[in-house]
Amino acid sequence: MDLGIAGRKAIVCGASKGLGKGCAFALAREGVELTITARGREALTATADEIRRATGAKITPIAADVTTEGGRQAVLAACAEPDILVTNSAGPPAGDFRNWSGEDWMKALNGNMVAHILLIKAVIDGMIGRRFGRIVNITSGAVKSPYPGLGLSNGARAGLTGFVAGLARQVSQHNVTINNLLPGSHETDRLRSLIAGDAKARGIPSEQALAEAKEAETAKRFGTVDEFGAACAFLCSAHAGYIAGQNLLLDGGSYNGTL
Ligand SMILES: NC(=O)c1ccc[n+]([C@@H]2O[C@H](COP(=O)([O-])OP(=O)(O)OC[C@H]3O[C@@H](n4cnc5c(N)ncnc54)[C@H](OP(=O)(O)O)[C@@H]3O)[C@@H](O)[C@H]2O)c1
Repeated sequence: MDLGIAGRKAIVCGASKGLGKGCAFALAREGVELTITARGREALTATADEIRRATGAKITPIAADVTTEGGRQAVLAACAEPDILVTNSAGPPAGDFRNWSGEDWMKALNGNMVAHILLIKAVIDGMIGRRFGRIVNITSGAVKSPYPGLGLSNGARAGLTGFVAGLARQVSQHNVTINNLLPGSHETDRLRSLIAGDAKARGIPSEQALAEAKEAETAKRFGTVDEFGAACAFLCSAHAGYIAGQNLLLDGGSYNGTL
Protein backbone atom coordinates (compact mmCIF):
# COMPACT_ATOMS: atom_id res chain seq x y z
CA MET A 1 0.00 0.00 0.00
CA ASP A 2 1.29 3.45 -0.89
CA LEU A 3 0.82 5.51 2.27
CA GLY A 4 0.63 8.72 0.25
CA ILE A 5 3.19 10.67 2.28
CA ALA A 6 6.23 10.71 -0.03
CA GLY A 7 7.80 14.17 0.11
CA ARG A 8 6.20 15.03 3.47
CA LYS A 9 8.47 16.32 6.24
CA ALA A 10 8.70 14.63 9.63
CA ILE A 11 10.34 15.20 12.98
CA VAL A 12 10.96 11.94 14.82
CA CYS A 13 12.17 12.35 18.40
CA GLY A 14 14.28 9.83 20.25
CA ALA A 15 15.25 8.11 17.03
CA SER A 16 18.84 6.90 17.33
CA LYS A 17 17.63 3.48 18.49
CA GLY A 18 14.61 1.53 19.68
CA LEU A 19 11.03 2.45 18.87
CA GLY A 20 11.83 5.93 17.53
CA LYS A 21 14.34 4.45 15.11
CA GLY A 22 11.69 1.95 13.97
CA CYS A 23 9.33 4.85 13.24
CA ALA A 24 12.03 6.82 11.41
CA PHE A 25 12.91 3.82 9.26
CA ALA A 26 9.28 3.14 8.33
CA LEU A 27 8.66 6.78 7.38
CA ALA A 28 11.89 6.93 5.37
CA ARG A 29 10.79 3.87 3.40
CA GLU A 30 7.69 5.88 2.43
CA GLY A 31 9.82 8.70 1.04
CA VAL A 32 9.33 11.06 3.98
CA GLU A 33 12.06 13.66 4.58
CA LEU A 34 13.27 13.27 8.15
CA THR A 35 14.69 15.32 10.97
CA ILE A 36 15.67 12.90 13.73
CA THR A 37 16.82 13.63 17.25
CA ALA A 38 18.56 12.01 20.18
CA ARG A 39 20.94 13.36 22.80
CA GLY A 40 23.92 11.21 21.83
CA ARG A 41 25.41 12.56 18.60
CA GLU A 42 27.48 9.55 17.60
CA ALA A 43 24.66 6.99 17.65
CA LEU A 44 22.30 9.46 16.03
CA THR A 45 24.67 10.17 13.13
CA ALA A 46 25.25 6.44 12.65
CA THR A 47 21.48 5.84 12.54
CA ALA A 48 20.97 8.67 10.07
CA ASP A 49 23.66 7.15 7.83
CA GLU A 50 22.10 3.70 8.14
CA ILE A 51 18.59 4.92 7.23
CA ARG A 52 19.92 7.08 4.37
CA ARG A 53 21.87 4.15 2.92
CA ALA A 54 18.93 1.76 3.21
CA THR A 55 16.18 4.04 1.91
CA GLY A 56 17.77 6.98 0.08
CA ALA A 57 15.70 9.33 2.26
CA LYS A 58 16.82 12.89 2.99
CA ILE A 59 17.59 12.88 6.68
CA THR A 60 18.95 15.51 9.08
CA PRO A 61 20.23 14.37 12.48
CA ILE A 62 19.98 16.97 15.26
CA ALA A 63 21.69 16.02 18.51
CA ALA A 64 19.37 17.59 21.08
CA ASP A 65 17.48 16.87 24.28
CA VAL A 66 13.80 17.40 23.44
CA THR A 67 12.93 17.74 27.12
CA THR A 68 14.70 21.13 27.15
CA GLU A 69 13.56 24.36 25.50
CA GLY A 70 16.96 24.75 23.79
CA GLY A 71 16.80 21.22 22.44
CA ARG A 72 13.32 21.72 21.02
CA GLN A 73 14.36 25.01 19.42
CA ALA A 74 17.31 23.28 17.73
CA VAL A 75 15.03 20.63 16.25
CA LEU A 76 12.45 23.17 15.12
CA ALA A 77 15.16 25.33 13.55
CA ALA A 78 16.05 22.34 11.35
CA CYS A 79 12.42 21.59 10.47
CA ALA A 80 10.12 24.51 11.21
CA GLU A 81 7.09 23.21 9.29
CA PRO A 82 6.79 19.45 9.76
CA ASP A 83 3.79 17.58 8.35
CA ILE A 84 4.45 14.73 10.78
CA LEU A 85 5.64 14.79 14.39
CA VAL A 86 6.53 11.69 16.38
CA THR A 87 7.16 12.59 20.02
CA ASN A 88 9.35 10.31 22.11
CA SER A 89 11.79 10.54 25.00
CA ALA A 90 13.38 8.29 27.59
CA GLY A 91 11.06 6.58 30.03
CA PRO A 92 11.43 7.47 33.72
CA PRO A 93 13.21 5.17 36.16
CA ALA A 94 11.46 2.34 37.98
CA GLY A 95 11.22 2.37 41.77
CA ASP A 96 9.10 2.75 44.88
CA PHE A 97 7.01 5.93 45.02
CA ARG A 98 8.00 6.42 48.66
CA ASN A 99 11.49 7.24 47.47
CA TRP A 100 10.51 9.83 44.84
CA SER A 101 10.88 13.51 45.62
CA GLY A 102 8.91 16.38 44.12
CA GLU A 103 11.89 16.94 41.85
CA ASP A 104 11.69 13.34 40.58
CA TRP A 105 8.03 13.89 39.76
CA MET A 106 8.66 17.19 37.97
CA LYS A 107 11.38 15.53 35.88
CA ALA A 108 9.04 12.72 34.84
CA LEU A 109 6.20 15.12 34.10
CA ASN A 110 8.51 17.29 32.01
CA GLY A 111 10.05 14.37 30.12
CA ASN A 112 6.96 12.31 29.43
CA MET A 113 4.20 14.91 29.32
CA VAL A 114 5.11 18.60 29.09
CA ALA A 115 7.93 18.25 26.52
CA HIS A 116 5.58 16.37 24.18
CA ILE A 117 2.87 19.02 24.61
CA LEU A 118 5.28 21.89 23.93
CA LEU A 119 6.46 20.24 20.70
CA ILE A 120 2.85 19.74 19.62
CA LYS A 121 2.11 23.38 20.45
CA ALA A 122 5.03 24.54 18.30
CA VAL A 123 3.91 22.75 15.15
CA ILE A 124 0.14 22.33 15.26
CA ASP A 125 -1.00 25.71 13.97
CA GLY A 126 1.19 25.32 10.88
CA MET A 127 -0.35 21.89 10.28
CA ILE A 128 -3.84 23.35 10.62
CA GLY A 129 -2.96 26.13 8.16
CA ARG A 130 -1.62 23.62 5.61
CA ARG A 131 -4.57 21.26 6.21
CA PHE A 132 -2.37 18.24 6.85
CA GLY A 133 -0.84 17.05 10.08
CA ARG A 134 -0.11 13.73 11.72
CA ILE A 135 1.09 13.62 15.32
CA VAL A 136 1.95 10.34 17.00
CA ASN A 137 3.06 10.23 20.62
CA ILE A 138 4.97 7.20 21.80
CA THR A 139 3.56 6.59 25.27
CA SER A 140 3.28 3.18 26.95
CA GLY A 141 1.07 0.20 27.59
CA ALA A 142 1.18 1.57 31.15
CA VAL A 143 -1.52 4.05 30.10
CA LYS A 144 -4.03 1.19 29.81
CA SER A 145 -2.60 -1.17 32.36
CA PRO A 146 -0.29 0.47 34.91
CA TYR A 147 3.04 -1.24 35.59
CA PRO A 148 3.83 -1.76 39.27
CA GLY A 149 7.13 -0.04 39.95
CA LEU A 150 6.78 2.38 37.05
CA GLY A 151 4.56 4.90 38.83
CA LEU A 152 6.39 7.90 37.35
CA SER A 153 5.57 6.58 33.88
CA ASN A 154 2.00 5.59 34.78
CA GLY A 155 1.31 9.08 36.10
CA ALA A 156 3.10 11.30 33.58
CA ARG A 157 1.85 9.45 30.51
CA ALA A 158 -1.71 9.49 31.79
CA GLY A 159 -1.41 13.29 31.90
CA LEU A 160 -0.25 13.47 28.29
CA THR A 161 -2.99 11.08 27.21
CA GLY A 162 -5.68 13.16 28.90
CA PHE A 163 -4.48 16.39 27.33
CA VAL A 164 -4.18 14.88 23.87
CA ALA A 165 -7.67 13.34 24.12
CA GLY A 166 -9.10 16.84 24.27
CA LEU A 167 -6.85 18.49 21.70
CA ALA A 168 -7.25 15.71 19.10
CA ARG A 169 -10.97 16.46 18.97
CA GLN A 170 -10.36 20.15 18.30
CA VAL A 171 -8.10 19.66 15.29
CA SER A 172 -9.37 16.62 13.31
CA GLN A 173 -11.64 18.96 11.31
CA HIS A 174 -8.44 20.43 9.80
CA ASN A 175 -7.06 17.02 8.71
CA VAL A 176 -4.68 17.13 11.66
CA THR A 177 -4.72 13.96 13.72
CA ILE A 178 -3.15 13.15 17.07
CA ASN A 179 -2.90 9.56 18.22
CA ASN A 180 -0.84 7.67 20.76
CA LEU A 181 1.03 4.43 20.24
CA LEU A 182 1.24 2.33 23.39
CA PRO A 183 4.15 -0.12 23.30
CA GLY A 184 3.77 -3.32 25.25
CA SER A 185 7.08 -5.17 25.45
CA HIS A 186 9.38 -4.41 22.53
CA GLU A 187 12.91 -5.71 22.59
CA THR A 188 14.91 -2.49 22.90
CA ASP A 189 17.67 -1.25 25.20
CA ARG A 190 15.01 0.27 27.48
CA LEU A 191 13.25 -3.09 27.89
CA ARG A 192 16.53 -4.95 28.36
CA SER A 193 17.68 -2.52 31.06
CA LEU A 194 14.33 -2.75 32.93
CA ILE A 195 14.52 -6.54 32.83
CA ALA A 196 18.17 -6.48 33.94
CA GLY A 197 17.11 -4.31 36.93
CA ASP A 198 14.39 -6.79 37.79
CA ALA A 199 16.85 -9.70 37.48
CA LYS A 200 19.29 -7.96 39.83
CA ALA A 201 16.56 -7.32 42.41
CA ARG A 202 15.54 -10.99 42.26
CA GLY A 203 19.12 -12.28 42.22
CA ILE A 204 18.71 -14.20 38.96
CA PRO A 205 20.63 -13.95 35.65
CA SER A 206 19.34 -11.39 33.13
CA GLU A 207 18.89 -14.10 30.48
CA GLN A 208 16.56 -16.00 32.82
CA ALA A 209 14.48 -12.88 33.56
CA LEU A 210 14.34 -12.12 29.81
CA ALA A 211 13.13 -15.65 29.01
CA GLU A 212 10.51 -15.47 31.79
CA ALA A 213 9.28 -12.10 30.56
CA LYS A 214 8.93 -13.48 27.03
CA GLU A 215 7.05 -16.52 28.29
CA ALA A 216 4.69 -14.23 30.22
CA GLU A 217 3.70 -12.47 26.99
CA THR A 218 0.43 -13.64 25.45
CA ALA A 219 2.15 -13.82 22.05
CA LYS A 220 5.13 -15.63 23.68
CA ARG A 221 7.47 -13.08 22.15
CA PHE A 222 8.34 -9.39 22.30
CA GLY A 223 7.33 -6.92 19.62
CA THR A 224 9.87 -5.71 17.07
CA VAL A 225 10.76 -2.12 16.32
CA ASP A 226 9.87 -2.73 12.67
CA GLU A 227 6.33 -3.74 13.61
CA PHE A 228 6.08 -0.67 15.80
CA GLY A 229 7.40 1.60 13.03
CA ALA A 230 4.93 0.20 10.50
CA ALA A 231 1.99 1.03 12.79
CA CYS A 232 3.37 4.53 13.23
CA ALA A 233 3.78 5.04 9.48
CA PHE A 234 0.18 4.01 8.87
CA LEU A 235 -1.10 6.49 11.47
CA CYS A 236 0.96 9.14 9.66
CA SER A 237 -0.40 8.17 6.26
CA ALA A 238 -2.75 10.01 3.97
CA HIS A 239 -5.29 7.23 4.64
CA ALA A 240 -5.45 7.76 8.40
CA GLY A 241 -7.18 11.15 8.51
CA TYR A 242 -10.27 9.69 10.21
CA ILE A 243 -8.30 8.04 13.03
CA ALA A 244 -8.08 10.66 15.75
CA GLY A 245 -7.57 10.69 19.49
CA GLN A 246 -6.91 6.96 19.67
CA ASN A 247 -4.61 4.94 21.91
CA LEU A 248 -3.33 1.97 19.96
CA LEU A 249 -1.85 -0.75 22.15
CA LEU A 250 0.83 -2.89 20.49
CA ASP A 251 1.29 -5.77 22.88
CA GLY A 252 0.49 -9.02 21.06
CA GLY A 253 -2.77 -9.28 23.03
CA SER A 254 -1.21 -9.24 26.49
CA TYR A 255 -3.77 -6.73 27.76
CA ASN A 256 -6.69 -8.96 28.69
CA GLY A 257 -9.72 -6.91 27.68
CA THR A 258 -12.42 -7.08 25.04
CA LEU A 259 -12.16 -3.38 24.19
N1 LIG B 1 10.49 -0.83 24.65
C1 LIG B 1 9.35 -1.06 25.25
O1 LIG B 1 8.87 -2.20 25.31
C2 LIG B 1 8.56 0.08 25.87
C3 LIG B 1 7.39 -0.23 26.58
C4 LIG B 1 6.65 0.80 27.13
C5 LIG B 1 7.07 2.10 26.98
N2 LIG B 1 8.21 2.38 26.29
C6 LIG B 1 8.59 3.80 26.16
O2 LIG B 1 8.80 4.12 24.80
C7 LIG B 1 9.84 5.11 24.71
C8 LIG B 1 10.94 4.61 23.78
O3 LIG B 1 11.44 3.41 24.33
P1 LIG B 1 12.61 2.55 23.66
O4 LIG B 1 12.42 1.19 24.19
O5 LIG B 1 12.68 2.79 22.21
O6 LIG B 1 13.89 3.21 24.38
P2 LIG B 1 15.44 3.17 23.95
O7 LIG B 1 15.75 1.92 23.21
O8 LIG B 1 16.18 3.49 25.20
O9 LIG B 1 15.58 4.39 22.90
C9 LIG B 1 15.29 5.71 23.30
C10 LIG B 1 15.70 6.66 22.20
O10 LIG B 1 15.29 7.99 22.55
C11 LIG B 1 16.45 8.85 22.65
N3 LIG B 1 16.14 9.82 23.71
C12 LIG B 1 15.91 9.52 25.01
N4 LIG B 1 15.67 10.66 25.70
C13 LIG B 1 15.74 11.68 24.80
C14 LIG B 1 15.59 13.08 24.91
N5 LIG B 1 15.33 13.67 26.09
N6 LIG B 1 15.73 13.84 23.79
C15 LIG B 1 16.00 13.26 22.61
N7 LIG B 1 16.16 11.93 22.45
C16 LIG B 1 16.02 11.14 23.54
C17 LIG B 1 17.60 7.90 22.92
O11 LIG B 1 18.87 8.40 22.55
P3 LIG B 1 19.77 9.25 23.61
O12 LIG B 1 19.79 8.46 24.87
O13 LIG B 1 21.09 9.40 22.94
O14 LIG B 1 19.07 10.57 23.78
C18 LIG B 1 17.20 6.75 22.00
O15 LIG B 1 17.47 7.08 20.67
C19 LIG B 1 10.32 5.36 26.15
O16 LIG B 1 9.66 6.46 26.70
C20 LIG B 1 9.92 4.08 26.86
O17 LIG B 1 9.74 4.24 28.24
C21 LIG B 1 8.96 1.40 25.73
